[in-house]
Amino acid sequence: MLCESNEELNALVEEARPYAKQGKVADYIPALGKAKPGDLSIAIHYPNGECVAAGEIERKITLQSISKVISLALVLMERGEDYVFERVGMEPTGDPFNSIAKLEALGVAKPLNPMINAGALVVTHMIKGDSVEARLERLLAFIRELADNETVGVNEEVARSEFETAHLNRALCYFLKQHGVITEDVDPLIELYSKQCANEMDCRDLADIGLVFAMGGVHPQTGKRVMPDDVARICKTFMVTCGMYNASGEFAIKIGIPAKSGVSGGIMGSVPGKVGIGIFGPALDEKGNSIGGIKLLELLAKRYSLSMF
Ligand code: DON
Repeated sequence: MLCESNEELNALVEEARPYAKQGKVADYIPALGKAKPGDLSIAIHYPNGECVAAGEIERKITLQSISKVISLALVLMERGEDYVFERVGMEPTGDPFNSIAKLEALGVAKPLNPMINAGALVVTHMIKGDSVEARLERLLAFIRELADNETVGVNEEVARSEFETAHLNRALCYFLKQHGVITEDVDPLIELYSKQCANEMDCRDLADIGLVFAMGGVHPQTGKRVMPDDVARICKTFMVTCGMYNASGEFAIKIGIPAKSGVSGGIMGSVPGKVGIGIFGPALDEKGNSIGGIKLLELLAKRYSLSMF
């Protein structure tokens, strides 16, 4: 086991916590601006069911961009690889997560990967169902299965706050609709995407989800295969190449594990075959990643030789 006790983990949290002072809580989604910038919590889930945790672990966070990995896994299962990758690419962008620049510049209206907003909106568009409610139910059922927790659900205040302010995401959708990549109306899609991003849980649930990806799609607690090994492999690969946006290269060098961040300050880590990690530290760096969370992962990776490279 890499970290045996809550006390051992707590020492690392307190070493990383001061770095949060250099960051800023996201407020472009107004409801996220209420988070406490000094918070930092982590949970590590092991395949044998044990979980060590430290920091403000009762705090709930919304998944935000971490949900992009989960929706990708769902549509890969529902639609198959060929269908999905005809509509969204596999390459990192080097651009900020909400950039519209490459969509037009490359001359093909195909978002470069599913971890940037343009690509994630196309992925959410592919979730099957007759209505926003039905599609959200499919996604929610999948998230609850991954977290092995029936209480996980949407934070309606955060979802509404994003829906009311998602002008740039609407612009991405209108561009993609103009080019036939998105075929539904934009507002229902933004509603579904906002609710997807506003799924709320604590860092132990997040670590549990990270563990399922780490274990190739089998939930160690329930013993159930939640997704095919290939889907978990594709998702982990995107986490390495694009999971930390335009900081993914530096993150791979310094930390070296598949991970996905969100503007709420969450980071989900999946160390293949070993552990799932859930982190919450809402103060962000300039690229939108949790500043305390990255420091904490750096300390963990160094101390326990976590890098897969
Ligand atoms: O699309 C958005 O703006 C958010 N719901 C999610 C963005 C996000 O988490 C980017 N992360 N670093």
